[in-house]
Amino acid sequence: MEDLSLHILDIAENSINAGAKKIVIRIVEDLEGDVYSISVEDDGAGIGAEILRKVEDPFFTSSPKKRFGLGIPLLKQAALECDGQFHIDSSPGEGTTLFASFKRSHIDRKPLGDLGSTMLALICGHPEIRYVLFYEKGDFRYGFDTDALKESLGDVPVNLPQVLVPVRDSINESTGGRALSLRKTDG
Ligand SMILES: Nc1ncnc2c1ncn2[C@@H]1O[C@H](COP(=O)(O)OP(=O)(O)OP(=O)(O)O)[C@@H](O)[C@H]1O
Ligand SMILES: [Mg+2]
Repeated sequence: MEDLSLHILDIAENSINAGAKKIVIRIVEDLEGDVYSISVEDDGAGIGAEILRKVEDPFFTSSPKKRFGLGIPLLKQAALECDGQFHIDSSPGEGTTLFASFKRSHIDRKPLGDLGSTMLALICGHPEIRYVLFYEKGDFRYGFDTDALKESLGDVPVNLPQVLVPVRDSINESTGGRALSLRKTDG
């Protein structure tokens, strides 16, 4: 996985599979501390202690259609390779919070990538879920909340391209995210 936004997509999909109604994604770039951190918090089914011990194992998945469960192990590996940390907190019936951090300046720290398209895909796939995004970089703060967006739209559905394309672009503009195709050309 080339970009942190693709890890975020995978982790948020876990939350969707766990029946979450609200997913909060927080990205913090601590410039002074040289830490880039990501957390994804959901109010889904949660993970019991026995399964929690296994989720970091690539051979564990609860999906009957899969042989591997790579989302969590790959993010953990990416974080640890960049002198970062990784942990999961979960309470069955209440939800799950997953945290990954990276040394921001580490040569192997992946770029954020196209976070706007990740959010667009999540909203399109499950417009009924409330998605909240917080982004901080130094003193800069940006927030996005599908509840606020829906309120401003009134009766207009949220999952229309006319709505989500500008949302995607403004998320990328605010978070320093960019599309893969753009990255390839600037070399
Ligand atoms: N937010 C969550 N809430 C509840 N259970 C979770 C959550 N995230 C992960 N899990 C459990 O951990 C397992 C492993 O997750 P992981 O993302 O590593 O693999 P996967 O989703 O099964 O497969 P893949 O990500 O490769 O498509 C899941 O199958 C699920 O049982
Ligand atoms: Mg997964």
